[in-house]
Amino acid sequence: MSLLNEERKLTNLFDGTEWNVYQSKLLNLGVGAPGTDLLQYCGDIFCKATEHRMKIDKEENLSMLFQYGPTSGIYEARFEIAKYFTQMYGSEVKCEDLIITSGATQGLQLILSTLVDLNGYVFVDEYTYMLALDCMKQFQTLNIVSVKLNKNGVDLDDLEQQLKEKQFKSEKKEFWAMYYTIPTYHNPTGIHFSPEVCEALVKLARKYDFLISCDDVYNILCYKGMKVQKRLFAYDAKDDADYKGHVISNGSFSKILGPGVRLGWMEVPRRMKTLLDSSGFINSGGCLNNYTSGIVASLFQLGLAQQHIQRMFDAYKERMLATCEVFERDLPAGCQIITPEGGYFIWISLGENGKASEFLKMCMEEEKIFFIVGSRFALHPDKRDNSFRLSIAFHSKDKLIDAAERICRCLKKYLNN
Ligand SMILES: Cc1ncc(COP(=O)(O)O)c(C=O)c1O
Repeated sequence: MSLLNEERKLTNLFDGTEWNVYQSKLLNLGVGAPGTDLLQYCGDIFCKATEHRMKIDKEENLSMLFQYGPTSGIYEARFEIAKYFTQMYGSEVKCEDLIITSGATQGLQLILSTLVDLNGYVFVDEYTYMLALDCMKQFQTLNIVSVKLNKNGVDLDDLEQQLKEKQFKSEKKEFWAMYYTIPTYHNPTGIHFSPEVCEALVKLARKYDFLISCDDVYNILCYKGMKVQKRLFAYDAKDDADYKGHVISNGSFSKILGPGVRLGWMEVPRRMKTLLDSSGFINSGGCLNNYTSGIVASLFQLGLAQQHIQRMFDAYKERMLATCEVFERDLPAGCQIITPEGGYFIWISLGENGKASEFLKMCMEEEKIFFIVGSRFALHPDKRDNSFRLSIAFHSKDKLIDAAERICRCLKKYLNN
């Protein structure tokens, strides 16, 4: 693989594939990443933050940023993250609950390998982030179980039924099972879990003593109303009489600063923090992304991160609202759109008779537009072929409006054939 990379001089994750989002022959609406127009500011602000941090590190800090970092991450980075997200969430994020990661993907890998019985269970939504599924499948002894989803979140009856059937006592790890989800602006469906579902989920987690791992990577991208949704982690209230700590909030700067920064954090209950902090994986390397966390701390101290996040937010919001407006107006009868209140994704269902894979083929041939079919997000892909996911993150508003109009025209033709 590395040889191939060297020979082909690949520049990004999408490079070298038929669906390269940077090539103009095809409009790729599959990619959940910001485009050049948003990332172009990173160079300048990271230069300023680096200069700021290097000065401190050299003059006051014995070049500690270049040493193995403390397992949870340096205080300044955790402090700045806690301060910013406390303000954004409108609910306290505690510095001492945080572990710095190199992104939500690494967080998930660490959670799976450290906290969950490898002969145990991972419950996932019937549609879920496809690459998280790929991560889980690599733990070949884990049993992955799909749970129904509805417009308010996970189907609690289905989840409880499965918990009852599968429950066992783990002798080896803290948890016999984990439920993995994206409760806020879900990938791929765009839904957010209702407060009732969140409350009930925490009760279930306490009753059956399983872990809930939330990828909270879209939470602050809230386009409707002024308030960011309360994250599931906050429903697991520490002052409840039966509190033990069952939820992890796995956050990331990928969608709000840039994916290449590879920086994230996990908000973790005390009992799990001790286990994660003492894992060989973190201890061997120290903080999972020490250097970058120091630069990002400066980015916040200088106010540059806040400005950049606001700029990205404004662009995403404009793109999402404009694209949804077209679909709401032009989608043919029988199709359904879940209009998301935030995040990156629009989920469209073709109704009883549509097949997303057939429609994708037609859309690529006739309109040169690519998107991801719903089956890619399902544990059992063969059964699910009537929906697809579009991302608003990468392309400009005008391109997205044009694409949405063409998709609707193509859909009418497809469904009338
Ligand atoms: C739900 C979800 N989790 C994790 C990631 C990847 O996050 P990171 O870049 O922080 O590893 C994505 C990116 O698409 C995502 O949608």
